[in-house]
Amino acid sequence: MPEPDKHLFEGKYCILEKFIITGGKPLMGEVTIGGAKNAAVAILPATLLAGGKCVLENLPNISDVAASVEILRAMGAQVKMLNKHTLEIDTTHIMGTEVPNEMSRQMRASYYFLGALLGRFGTASVAMPGGCNLGPRPIDQHLKAFTALGAEDSVRAGMIHVESDNLQGCHVFFDTVSVGATINAMLAAVMAHGTTILENVAKEPHIVDVANFLNTMGADVRGAGTDVIKIRGVEKMHGCNYSIIPDQIEAGSYMVAAAMTGGNVLIKNVIPKHLEPITAKLERAGVLVEEYDDAVRVCRTGKLESLNIKTMPHPGFPTDMQPLMSVLMTIAQGTSIVTEGIWENRFRFADELLRMGANIQVDGRVAVIEGVPELQAAPVRASDLRAGAALVVAALAANGTSEIEEIAHIERGYEGIVEKLQGLGADIRRISIPEQTLRQAL
Ligand code: EPZ
Repeated sequence: MPEPDKHLFEGKYCILEKFIITGGKPLMGEVTIGGAKNAAVAILPATLLAGGKCVLENLPNISDVAASVEILRAMGAQVKMLNKHTLEIDTTHIMGTEVPNEMSRQMRASYYFLGALLGRFGTASVAMPGGCNLGPRPIDQHLKAFTALGAEDSVRAGMIHVESDNLQGCHVFFDTVSVGATINAMLAAVMAHGTTILENVAKEPHIVDVANFLNTMGADVRGAGTDVIKIRGVEKMHGCNYSIIPDQIEAGSYMVAAAMTGGNVLIKNVIPKHLEPITAKLERAGVLVEEYDDAVRVCRTGKLESLNIKTMPHPGFPTDMQPLMSVLMTIAQGTSIVTEGIWENRFRFADELLRMGANIQVDGRVAVIEGVPELQAAPVRASDLRAGAALVVAALAANGTSEIEEIAHIERGYEGIVEKLQGLGADIRRISIPEQTLRQAL
């Protein structure tokens, strides 16, 4: 697994890393999608519940996965890399129940260590999580579930602490549909005494994947993928072999990239059913999408039509695809209205798109986009993972050569993005300017 990216201008690592992209080439060929990031970052902490050996296949080789593995290792798990996408993780001997502060702050999903450690050991401490800055990201619904199971929570020195010597099955009705709270509640409840009913839960494909993984480890979780999940607590769980589902959002990103550049791309290793909300919008915009058993072909020859999009929990249009679809709409004919229904602050890429000649106006959670014939290359900066991916897609279609900074955000979630895009004929390179060169330039 790669080292988590050292951030730019930090300490001694004064390295400026950028993508340099010359736009205008239609993407052509085939690309293979990796395992789902948002499933992987939950399944890795969930291996703690096994207290034994798990072999995880189809793990994406990205920095968020590396960060989760680093936490597991720091806690005493034995981790062996069997190949680039397969790890054997033995959580028999775990040394503590506190996730080191600097590690948990590296990524949002470290909150899953709360549920997993609470579920196995009855106690856990994790720092308030970091991750993409999309506006306020409370975890009150996670704590609501832990409390209902009988745990007490407290915040000390920036660490959230949860504890119970006797987790009891319970009934939780979530106030908000939350992916993180749904998964954390499952992790904490699988070995509680009695039955837990979770209502108004999230239904994303990775919720189902985590539930399937828990069941493969011996849990009894039913109903994942519907509004109600029922969990009968089991006494013990065990290790297993498991293969993670393909990443819906990575696949969607390449679908949009193909459409944006007027290309023709076969996107392999996907579950077409998971892509339906994306496929439906692309077809509405005039893009051809052909579905196969485990692949989709995306092809555009004509003009793009404008769309109205509102992001919603699954099966609605996924918020993580919103920045990418917004970019697509910048070159569609007519006016598009994009409403962000999940996060308060997910249009931070709009200023960068303005620099590229887009006509986009944002008012709170709504963006109004008037299509322009073409985007122009510009130096831009990724503010978060999906915003960064969206800027890559914009640059692939823009006239001229763009430079994208802060690419560590993008590499948190897209394995080998440069190589995959080059394989489709894109003109993209990654450059690193070392400290000395930078100093000379200043
Ligand atoms: C997950 O975040 C994903 N992250 C996000 O993907 C994704 O955008 C999001 O789900 C929605 O699909 C991971 O899986 C690691 P939520 P999560 O809890 O779980 C509110 C990406 O780009 N809420 O479903 O943190 C919250 O403020 C990332 O890959 C509460 O009010 O999201 C938001 O408005 C970015 N209280 C809404 O619910 C809570 O306790 C949905 O959040 C929890 C959430």
